[in-house]
Amino acid sequence: MTSSPLPKSSTTPSSPGSTAFRHVDLLVGPGVFVPRPETELLAGWAIERLEGKSVAVDLCTGSGAIAASLADEAPWARVHAVELDPMAHHWASRNLAGTTVDLRLGDMADAFPDLDGTVDVVTCNPPYIPLEAFESVAPEARDHDPSLALWSGQDGLDAMRVLERTAARLLRPGGWVGAEHADVQGEAAPAVFSATGRWSEVRDHRDLAGRPRYVTARLAR
Ligand SMILES: C[S@@+](CC[C@H](N)C(=O)[O-])C[C@H]1O[C@@H](n2cnc3c(N)ncnc32)[C@H](O)[C@@H]1O
Repeated sequence: MTSSPLPKSSTTPSSPGSTAFRHVDLLVGPGVFVPRPETELLAGWAIERLEGKSVAVDLCTGSGAIAASLADEAPWARVHAVELDPMAHHWASRNLAGTTVDLRLGDMADAFPDLDGTVDVVTCNPPYIPLEAFESVAPEARDHDPSLALWSGQDGLDAMRVLERTAARLLRPGGWVGAEHADVQGEAAPAVFSATGRWSEVRDHRDLAGRPRYVTARLAR
């Protein structure tokens, strides 16, 4: 691991405050991962994909950042979001109050069975840091960010594998998934999708600093 998978800007604050994400202001505080600028690109991609479409799901919603942006910038769409950690879910429920987002508390693995095969766009910024990278992660993030938001098995891709299966279940044929990953996973994250044979147009995208940042794929028709 030559590069820290977690930008320094993503530490959890020790006291409540607010942060901007695209065109929305979000409340953040202890127990929730602070959304970071890189993730705005994934949200922007999803908003473009939702043009003329109607159903979006944001898995691992954390503060609700991506879901709030979809509701704000694609107001014609029905947006659903799920979060496993009760503390993070609490922050998301505050941030999504007053929107039409359907927020649920639960595991993305079995989330939204009522939406199977009907979703147009799935987004996810999952935990993606390999346990083996523990030493390379900034101590302020390691010690203060919720561990559920950071670690994802030995290679950092356990959550990516779960989200691949969940997205395949939720999406209609031809629907799209977009998922953020660590900058060192520019080949490994797309390979999670390519390896299953159920996706077309698997493509990786770079952030504004030129680093691999998110993968998109389309469920085969
Ligand atoms: C890296 S944070 C991203 C949060 C938010 N989407 C963002 O971009 O700021 C990952 C989030 O996924 C949640 N999470 C981890 N495993 C999950 C699971 N199996 N199902 C649902 N949420 C999960 C964590 O609690 C955390 O809030």
